[in-house]
Amino acid sequence: MMKIFRTKNELQRFIETCKEKNESIGFVPTMGALHSGHLSLVEASKKIAAYTVASIFVNPTQFNDKNDFSRYPRTEEKDLQMLINAGVDAVFIPETSEMYPADDALLSFDFKGLDNRFEGAHRPGHFRGVVTIVEKLFRLVEPDFVLMGEKDFQQLAIVKLLAKTFFPKIEVIGCPTIREENGLAKSSRNMLLSETEKSRAAQIFRTLNETKSMWGTAPLSAITRHVENTLGAEPFTLEYFAIVDAESLEPLEKYGDKPAVALTALRLGTVRLIDNLRF
Ligand code: PAF
Repeated sequence: MMKIFRTKNELQRFIETCKEKNESIGFVPTMGALHSGHLSLVEASKKIAAYTVASIFVNPTQFNDKNDFSRYPRTEEKDLQMLINAGVDAVFIPETSEMYPADDALLSFDFKGLDNRFEGAHRPGHFRGVVTIVEKLFRLVEPDFVLMGEKDFQQLAIVKLLAKTFFPKIEVIGCPTIREENGLAKSSRNMLLSETEKSRAAQIFRTLNETKSMWGTAPLSAITRHVENTLGAEPFTLEYFAIVDAESLEPLEKYGDKPAVALTALRLGTVRLIDNLRF
């Protein structure tokens, strides 16, 4: 039976029993509106940990846009059923007041430059909110493993740095992006797209794949120009496209030996979408 906890105390009692038994914990932090991408994280956790704990919390401090926060999809009943079916052992669904008692300051964190660009530049304060809630959750859940999607590539790099800085025993594992049949990366925000927009959004992955076929032969500037011409045109508004070092997230000036990744964010109608592809 999946346990549902709404308070930190209840959750911590459960965590204590896991620790007493010396059993490992895999943790899947989410903001709900679950889809098969989240379920793949649960599956990965169940393969490596004795217990799998998920959290559902739409974290207000990471939304730089109030409207985005208020219309973020909330589908609690369906989410719980999906987690039960997936075999999650416990889910934590706190109220905002439980996670942010009055006057709670945001975490001061040295991002070592990882937050300057891309999502950080387009969503001021976003990553400060993310590390604040993730640090609180890590302290409560004390996981051995944390499973997160590679779709949020920059977030993953920042959470890895957070773990390295404050929780060296936690292993943060990035899991592959799960896609719709047409290639659109699974995201809770896809629920806000119309059917027409969903099929138009297939162009994002198609274009990323085109960059992959240009990789190694075309100059990097030609690849960027190609994407800017394709995703920078109607119906999209391109926020950024960049080819970066997959570890430092520094933009690549020229081809090198280290793994690289293409990162992009754009708007389609009123919905903001991100995606990436590794080279
Ligand atoms: O990726 C998300 O769903 C959120 O940013 C996270 C990691 C659960 C923190 O609120």
